[in-house]
Amino acid sequence: MKKSALELRDVTKVFQKGNDMFRAVDMVNLSVAEGEMVTFLGPSGCGKTTTLRMVAGFELPTDGRITIRGADMTNTPVNKRQIGFVFQNYALFPHMSVYNNVAYGLKARGEKESVIRPKVFSALELVGLKQVENRYPGQLSGGEQQRVALARVIVMEPQLLLMDEPLSNLDAKLRLHMRSEIRKLQKKLGITCLYVTHDQGEALTMADRIVVMNKGRVEQIGTPFEIYSNPQSLFVADFIGHANVLHLPVTSIGDEKISVEIPGGGSFSARALRPQVYHASDTIYRTGSTAALIVRPENIGVIERDSDENHFAAVVVSAIFVGSHIEYEMTLKNGEAVKASVPYQNGMTIFREGQEVSLIFDAPNSVFLPS
Ligand SMILES: Nc1ncnc2c1ncn2[C@@H]1O[C@H](COP(=O)(O)OP(=O)(O)O)[C@@H](O)[C@H]1O
Ligand SMILES: [Mg+2]
Repeated sequence: MKKSALELRDVTKVFQKGNDMFRAVDMVNLSVAEGEMVTFLGPSGCGKTTTLRMVAGFELPTDGRITIRGADMTNTPVNKRQIGFVFQNYALFPHMSVYNNVAYGLKARGEKESVIRPKVFSALELVGLKQVENRYPGQLSGGEQQRVALARVIVMEPQLLLMDEPLSNLDAKLRLHMRSEIRKLQKKLGITCLYVTHDQGEALTMADRIVVMNKGRVEQIGTPFEIYSNPQSLFVADFIGHANVLHLPVTSIGDEKISVEIPGGGSFSARALRPQVYHASDTIYRTGSTAALIVRPENIGVIERDSDENHFAAVVVSAIFVGSHIEYEMTLKNGEAVKASVPYQNGMTIFREGQEVSLIFDAPNSVFLPS
């Protein structure tokens, strides 16, 4: 069997905070394949950086094991792990030329200049910076500096590339550009990469798989598609793509589908997920109690009020025309808020504040989770 590039087994980090012990990372399990790009996504403080720092060796786990290409590295010092690390503050040496910044690690390793030169040039070429080798960091734009930082890491040919919010100091446009640059480079080199971000767009577009973290724990690991369309917890559903989450009384339970009562009358059925939640106490649906219906704003149609019993009666709270779409905020008869994003077509009616409407939830794109 092919060895995985990286294994985390029950990796845990406990910090002392005042008089309390605080589990910053709690029993994280993950296998990463050679050449895979795995993004870590979650809100600030959920333990992403701490997890990465343990993989790098800057922190030692309180518990658990870390294996790189089959070798136990749990307590191995940083410099013996062959890991490249790119931070948010890329900290180039300001008094050294681009060439010397990139050559630095190889020189420190005692390589000969005849070995160093071609390696530095090929790394600079990979990041698209061949003409600037004699400049100093202060003479480069933010994006160029970040590319030098990347070249400096790549030139060392690490087994694993770790990146912690590497783009968050760049402006929005450059961030989008660098996203695809980094992804292309990662694929071209076939390098295994862990990439931390709190930006869901970045996580979704760059990843082979995403690890969604919350409060030190893994909520879900999956491809961008799985995470988006089959969220295994309310946290994931809410964090990715700002889904509507509606708590509605269950009227019947089938093998794969359940039905709920629509506030004000009617009934709606959709697929019910039975998540293998890592730490759930209750994953069971019961008639009479509520289930959480997850539906994204782009999967709701807004029409004039009708009497179809599968439609949700709602009242418009606000309607904003954003060019390509109309963004509606509405309330259901039980007072719950619903957002819809409707593609605008010429001549289309835009409903106004206070108007009574009916909502068509696209059932194939709606799912239930235990509430
Ligand atoms: N050296 C430390 N000592 C005490 N607490 C820490 C230390 N490093 C991180 N933490 C805490 O651990 C939690 C997770 O931090 P971090 O991994 O940086 O989160 P993220 O990168 O997801 O924003 C935070 O509550 C943070 O305050
Ligand atoms: Mg962080």
